[in-house]
Amino acid sequence: MIEQSLVLVGLMGAGKTTVGRRLAAALDLPFADADQEIEAAAGATITEIFERHGEAAFRDGERRVIARLLDGPVCVLSTGGGAFMDLETRKKIKQNAVSIWLRADLDLLMERVLRRPTRPLLQQDDPRKVMQRLMDERYPVYAEADIIVDSGNGPHEAVVAKITDALKAQYGWDF
Ligand code: S3P
Repeated sequence: MIEQSLVLVGLMGAGKTTVGRRLAAALDLPFADADQEIEAAAGATITEIFERHGEAAFRDGERRVIARLLDGPVCVLSTGGGAFMDLETRKKIKQNAVSIWLRADLDLLMERVLRRPTRPLLQQDDPRKVMQRLMDERYPVYAEADIIVDSGNGPHEAVVAKITDALKAQYGWDF
């Protein structure tokens, strides 16, 4: 019996959405992706929200959307890379959910994020340098997550299995 929502945190490119969707299917839970919910609520893409209203407005929307989802039925929720950095969102996740950090190294993250130009924070001359800075700032905070799982280059199923093993071991949940 799964008693709390499961929230995936980690940097852009860590695989939160793909792994989250598979984790939800494996546990027979509904899946939500915070970025997609924000886009649906705003009727605009993340890039458009950043361009038109700025990052602070995006963070406000992100905080509201995540709070709403975590007040709802138990689900698997993938969050954008900055969500867990927000104090209020982090508190909400700690109170209402089990947080799972998908940790990955710089080369893997860059290989994945360079495939699509959908991340406003990386539309810079030196995206690798930006990602390295984000790792330095964010990894100590992501480390507060309840469960930490390495997201390597292997199959997503292996990451899902590591998460379900950790849930059984740490929470005694049976599914
Ligand atoms: C962001 C990550 C993105 C998205 C936005 C900002 C961040 O989500 O929320 O571009 O601050 O790291 P993904 O981590 O799903 O790419």
